[in-house]
Amino acid sequence: DWTMGAYRDEAIRKIREQVGDAKVICGLSGGVDSSVAAVLIHEAIGDQLTCVFVDHGLLRLGEAEQVVTMFRDNYNMPLIHADESELFLGALEGVSDPEIKRKTIGRLFIDVFQKHATEVGGAKFLAQGTLYPDVIESVSFSGGPSVTIKSHHNVGGLPEKMGLKLVEPLRELFKDEVRALGRELGLPASFIGRHPFPGPGLAIRCPGEITVEKLDILRKADAVYIDQIRKHGLYDDIWQAFAAILPMRTVGVMGDGRTYDFALALRAVTSVDGMTADYYPFTHDFLGETSTRIINEVPGINRVFYDCTSKPPGTIELE
Ligand code: XMP
Repeated sequence: DWTMGAYRDEAIRKIREQVGDAKVICGLSGGVDSSVAAVLIHEAIGDQLTCVFVDHGLLRLGEAEQVVTMFRDNYNMPLIHADESELFLGALEGVSDPEIKRKTIGRLFIDVFQKHATEVGGAKFLAQGTLYPDVIESVSFSGGPSVTIKSHHNVGGLPEKMGLKLVEPLRELFKDEVRALGRELGLPASFIGRHPFPGPGLAIRCPGEITVEKLDILRKADAVYIDQIRKHGLYDDIWQAFAAILPMRTVGVMGDGRTYDFALALRAVTSVDGMTADYYPFTHDFLGETSTRIINEVPGINRVFYDCTSKPPGTIELE
């Protein structure tokens, strides 16, 4: 696509102009946005860039390995795999307010990036895969009054004292444009097609208090749900699908015993840019089969709900 080719060249020129010969660290989340940002910046400045993949303990099943392997196999760029799950989960203990969760996670990301900026020999810049919708949604809701709906962890608000300047080469792009740029840069198709995954990860899919037990259950249930979606050939028709573990237990009966386990919400939406979304109209057969599989395969879940809320009035994530 010649348009994206031109965009890429221009973006590379701007990155070089902005950073000069300074070192840059890039926060990799495993999502399409930060991956595209990393590959673009690497093309622009080569080994001046170090990527930092932060495992905050809020990733999906097998995700850390997948991301690190994808980057190590396909790209020859310095990549730090920072296991910070104790730090993040420790700070989130007992926190159930969505905005406090988001702000806690955002603050810790900055601490971790700052530490690595020092360790790579004094990076001056922090690169992020911020998109245009992230920028506007953090400020106001489309068309409505100026109200913060959610504090996106990767937008603005970097403390002055951090001393790292931001490099955000995707700030003017929408998701479909980022995917086109990713193809232009040669990222594997399977990676480009991945559903978006938010920076705060499973924290915002676990309303109420986050516990290691709930996260383990959620990871397994989400994996079964996504497996179902792939097996039915629906993955590419859906903008984003995920499970969320609800902060309540309900009574059930399995075999000849009573159960008292967590309830799970399944979410799937179609969207063009994440700003508005429609819930996905799965068939009842699909929903029934998926519910049965999850309850049979995932200890700790005995009830499954399907979220049929569009955006607005819902948001895509639960928090
Ligand atoms: P909401 O829930 O606001 O989500 O309707 C819109 C899109 O943004 C993603 N999202 C985030 N992405 N950091 C991110 O990188 C965040 O803090 C964040 N919060 C929401 C969400 O997954 C959806 O694709």
